[in-house]
Amino acid sequence: MKQKTIMNLLLASSMLFVFSGVAHAGDAAAGKEKTSMCEGCHGIAGGYKTAFPVVYHVPKIGGQHEEYLVKAIQGYKDGTRSHPTMDALAQTLTEQDIKDFAAYYAGN
Ligand code: HEC
Repeated sequence: MKQKTIMNLLLASSMLFVFSGVAHAGDAAAGKEKTSMCEGCHGIAGGYKTAFPVVYHVPKIGGQHEEYLVKAIQGYKDGTRSHPTMDALAQTLTEQDIKDFAAYYAGN
């Protein structure tokens, strides 16, 4: 009985390792779960303009090439692109987050 519990624990932790381990290709499902921090600006239907605090244009990111999206977000992160809100936001994202977002938005 005790032996079995230990085996289960070992199995569970090795699975955790596989899922949380090395950065892998973009995971669209994982990206979707994180989009609440993007949808306020990029999920606006009809016109792609933010309503708050000042109306300004936001690019439509859904359906763009995955590679392009990764490069664009990395650009805000490393400073080769510049935009006040996207710069700040990109700093908070990991490489894996960026790939996940790109995988999700490329297909949506
Ligand atoms: C506060 C509003 C706001 C939020 C939140 C926001 N964005 Fe943006 N995003 C913008 C604006 C405005 C631009 C255009 C910036 C520019 O002109 O460079 C932009 C540009 C982009 C671009 C480049 C698009 C292109 O066509 O070059 C990508 C990719 C992007 N955002 C992804 C995201 C992702 C992923 C998130 C969530 C993690 C997010 N954004 C959250 C406002 C926002």
